[in-house]
Amino acid sequence: MDSFTAVLPADPLEVLRRRRSAKWQTYPADVLPLTVAEMDFGLAPPIADVLREAVERSDTGYAMAVPDLGRAVAAFAARRWNWEVDPAAVTAVADVGVGVVELLRSLTRPGDAVVISPPVYPPFFDWVPEAGARLLEVPLAHGADGWRLDLPALEAAFGTHPAACVLCNPQNPVGRVHTADELAALVRLARIYRVTLISDEIHGPLVLPGASFTPLLTVPGAADVAVTVMSASKAWNLAGLKCAAVVTAGRRLAAVTDRFPPDTVWRFGHFGVLATVAAYTEGEPWLDRLLTTLDHRRALLSRLLWDRLPTVAWRPPEATFLAWLDCSALGRDDQARDRFLARGRVALEPGLRFGAVGSGYARLNFATSADILDEATARMAASVP
Ligand SMILES: Cc1ncc(COP(=O)(O)O)c(C=O)c1O
Repeated sequence: MDSFTAVLPADPLEVLRRRRSAKWQTYPADVLPLTVAEMDFGLAPPIADVLREAVERSDTGYAMAVPDLGRAVAAFAARRWNWEVDPAAVTAVADVGVGVVELLRSLTRPGDAVVISPPVYPPFFDWVPEAGARLLEVPLAHGADGWRLDLPALEAAFGTHPAACVLCNPQNPVGRVHTADELAALVRLARIYRVTLISDEIHGPLVLPGASFTPLLTVPGAADVAVTVMSASKAWNLAGLKCAAVVTAGRRLAAVTDRFPPDTVWRFGHFGVLATVAAYTEGEPWLDRLLTTLDHRRALLSRLLWDRLPTVAWRPPEATFLAWLDCSALGRDDQARDRFLARGRVALEPGLRFGAVGSGYARLNFATSADILDEATARMAASVP
């Protein structure tokens, strides 16, 4: 179904099944996995080249992120989002999870409260206790226009003096791109109540046509209260290579990364740094094709769900390649998701993993071929009464 025009080809199923990554090894061979956030497209050519050349040089030693990573992040952020980043304020870490946990260790004391807003990427629930802090959940507000930050509830929570708030922008799994106005209101609250904001912006490059991304640190006043963690690992499918970047902007928060354990500099991947620098420096034409492709898949999924699973409700995401499906008409908790797997042999992420508000939901990864989406939705439809 894919043509050679603007859209990216995805490998056929028999080729994908040979991959050794988590997405393709977790389920038996008869299951179509639309689960963990890996994509089924081929690597961006500049990244494949840089990795191939490193293998040819036997260049598989320890990583060295300075100065290339900071320069690449800064140049990309300036071109893409008009965001001025100081290359010296970019600190490499193994992945976004490590970045957030180390930031929380630096910024909180044992037992401090840390705000998160479910439904949200499941490790958020683990990162906070891993750092010795305590979760304070302020769910997103859910209305006719979808999911958004619940600013009044956040203000009430900030009034109890949590140490930090971990933001997901854009937000996995709902695909919401928080607006500049919402982020400005959040920054205002953070300044009033002295709450440090940690913004996970891993999905920032994956904002789809129709929405526009505001990096938190571009919001006036954010530099003193916010720190960002970003990575090329979602948009260019590099999660296994282990490289992400913590970015600060103000003097107060610049010191936070100085408190990271000294061995942090040996814990990110050499291939991760090489691939990330290539992605940010030479990977934009491929990224633009990816966004066109995901826009098409998003529209295709709308049609397929409408035709085949009319009781499943969804709001197409503004960003990410993740569809947050309201399957509550088919059962509570994870019943629909379990039935899609058991009877349809299609694996989706269970909604409850994203918080109690995920009951009745399932998350579908649409970064795949039109053929696989067609087959998956046909099987899902056949599995329900
Ligand atoms: C919001 C969010 N943060 C972090 C991650 C994982 O990033 P990393 O593997 O760099 O920890 C994901 C993965 O899907 C994600 O969706």
